[in-house]
Amino acid sequence: MPEATPPAAGPSRQTRSGSFATAQVQAGYVTGLAENTAVPSIHQSNGFEFSSLSEARDLFALRKDGNIYSRAANPTVLVFERRVAELEGGIGAAGVASGQAAVAVALLALAKQGEHIVAARQLYGGTVDLLQDTFADWGIEVTFVDQDDTAAWEAAVRPTTRALFAESISNPIAQVLDLGAVAAVARRAGVPLVIDNTVATPYLQRAKDFGADIVVHSATKFLGGHGTSLGGVVVDLGTFDFTADPGRWPQLTQTYPRVPDGSLVERFGEAGSPYIALVKTKYVHDLGPSLSAFNAFQLLQGLETLDLRMQRHTASALTVARFLESHPAVARVHHPGLDSSPWHANAQAYLPDGTSSVFAFDLHATGDADADFRLVEEVISRLRVVRLVANIGDARSLVAHPASMTHSHMSPAQLAEAYITPTTVRLSIGLEDPRDIVDDLCRALDGVSDVASDDAGAERQLAEAGSH
Ligand SMILES: Cc1ncc(COP(=O)(O)O)c(C=O)c1O
Repeated sequence: MPEATPPAAGPSRQTRSGSFATAQVQAGYVTGLAENTAVPSIHQSNGFEFSSLSEARDLFALRKDGNIYSRAANPTVLVFERRVAELEGGIGAAGVASGQAAVAVALLALAKQGEHIVAARQLYGGTVDLLQDTFADWGIEVTFVDQDDTAAWEAAVRPTTRALFAESISNPIAQVLDLGAVAAVARRAGVPLVIDNTVATPYLQRAKDFGADIVVHSATKFLGGHGTSLGGVVVDLGTFDFTADPGRWPQLTQTYPRVPDGSLVERFGEAGSPYIALVKTKYVHDLGPSLSAFNAFQLLQGLETLDLRMQRHTASALTVARFLESHPAVARVHHPGLDSSPWHANAQAYLPDGTSSVFAFDLHATGDADADFRLVEEVISRLRVVRLVANIGDARSLVAHPASMTHSHMSPAQLAEAYITPTTVRLSIGLEDPRDIVDDLCRALDGVSDVASDDAGAERQLAEAGSH
């Protein structure tokens, strides 16, 4: 596992136009505009002036590419879209207002009322809310399966299934998906595999290399990287052939009312992505979750240092995980870079350059819900460097308690299926000096050991600690 030294550029870090490090700084932007800015400008304009009414008519009819109105397209957003598409190895991308919007529009473009999605049980809590609550309201059924159970993925597929969905590294337990196995199920089912690659980022994993068809990101997290700007992106990796079974995908293969005399495949099939055209011209256009030019600019700034940040995030997180594993107040550490992790083999296969910096650990549970909550609260209250914030992928180290925060809408059974216990603590390790992060956690946990020694359950806790 690479730590402080940058890994040599490998094939996973190549893009269409060259190395990953160059693409993250330059892709998608060509200088030569009237202003000649070296850095992509913030095009803070709602609308764009047409040279003539004929031009406006052609643009509205999607006969011609160009800017109409920033809800649908914006030049700063376009640079961000092109850059992420290049880093993921895709053929097109749609920038949207948040990761939540990216998941929603990516799936809405595939499944409508009466159709079905198979999703992993181990997902960010907001995505679970979207799939089990809002999608249910809209008549889109979702079956949740254990992401490690390939037979369960296979068994859940129905004739009405239109997508498989999972996170490549799950939030908060950091299970590493066996992407190849799930991609094989998607191929047999004839539906696209949609991967939320937020935690891995294209630097640590190009999901396309392992059979994904569509990638979504909460760009709010590592892509932006500084905790300043919400954003999301949907990328078509260009691997799924919607024309192989055209009856299944009428939204792409049959006459599209917004294109004169044709389908999206006919209009965008040769150059571009009919799927991304659908996401933009229908779902972003109609529902309105557009990425602002200012946020796209901020996200582009973040992207320029993605590889450098991911190297530091990853190395520091592994250092912190190793420390936690050695601390008696900690029952278990869910970090796929550790030999003890059930997902270590998947991490080696799918994330050879590191496993990102979002992971979790469990304190020894007392079995009493109130006492467990107080225990977690006690630890978190002692932290000074690591901040209590509902976010991940920030330059700052952040802590959260999934059971009472990000995943609080899930039932006890759902939490258990996602391996989240009342004493699970999520960390997102930032870019500070890792020694300061370890010292901070050490101070907080040593305090717990003192509390535990006064506690009636101390003996049992120590016995448990000994068994790990
Ligand atoms: C894996 C993952 N996907 C999607 C989202 C939603 O992203 P956003 O907060 O940008 O809407 C999150 C948010 O935490 C996340 O962790």
